[in-house]
Amino acid sequence: MIVAMDYATADEAQSLLNQLKGIPCYLKVGMQLFYAAGPSFVLKLKEQGYKVFLDLKMHDIPNTVKGGAASITRLGVDMFNVHAAGGKKMMESALEGVDQAANHSNPKPLVIGVTQLTSTNVTTLNEEIGITGTVEDSVLQYAKLAQSAGLDGVVASPLEVKNIKEQNGTNFVTVTPGIRPIGSNAGDQSRIMTPKEAFKQGTDYIVIGRPITASDDPRKSVESIIEELK
Ligand code: C5P
Repeated sequence: MIVAMDYATADEAQSLLNQLKGIPCYLKVGMQLFYAAGPSFVLKLKEQGYKVFLDLKMHDIPNTVKGGAASITRLGVDMFNVHAAGGKKMMESALEGVDQAANHSNPKPLVIGVTQLTSTNVTTLNEEIGITGTVEDSVLQYAKLAQSAGLDGVVASPLEVKNIKEQNGTNFVTVTPGIRPIGSNAGDQSRIMTPKEAFKQGTDYIVIGRPITASDDPRKSVESIIEELK
């Protein structure tokens, strides 16, 4: 389980960590926290021994993404992502950046492709973005492309995990946001599933944000998710 620390300040994020002390957590630092707290906070998390997924969803020209991937690798994070929509060359460049920067103290992180956001529905896809077909078709196309570029896996909705594993093989990693424990609010997520259902589909990592971070008692929320998973 990866906890999405979507906070505005390092202090708020650290306060969540203090409340979750003793519970082994994989942490996701996304753009809200990273743009506010910066690389130094990521380094601090690594010093505290956490596994970190840096969710910056890079999408730029290949050379820029290569440089970004090298900088991210030097932070020693365990996982980061790029948009598969940037194309094969862009994803390959991300891997080149990793290769260039990885060393003994900063081993290679998992590089994950973003397929379609879990907030995207078929209307957004067809009428706004201009991609025809279903969301599932588009996710599978991006997963195939990400694998052909050499990426380790993709971010997708838990609803797509079965098809991705069938198409790309079980070793191809799936990271699934859009997770809502029983009784929690969907918010802006469209394609959602409970933690237990998501793991039943065969996902490798579930990402949970607001059901924990917006809870009055985050520790209790995490514990009840763990309980639900048993
Ligand atoms: O609060 P919630 O559980 O919806 O948080 C989901 C997290 O996963 C957010 O940090 C969001 O940025 C991230 N995410 C997502 N959909 C993707 C990729 C990442 O929701 N396709």
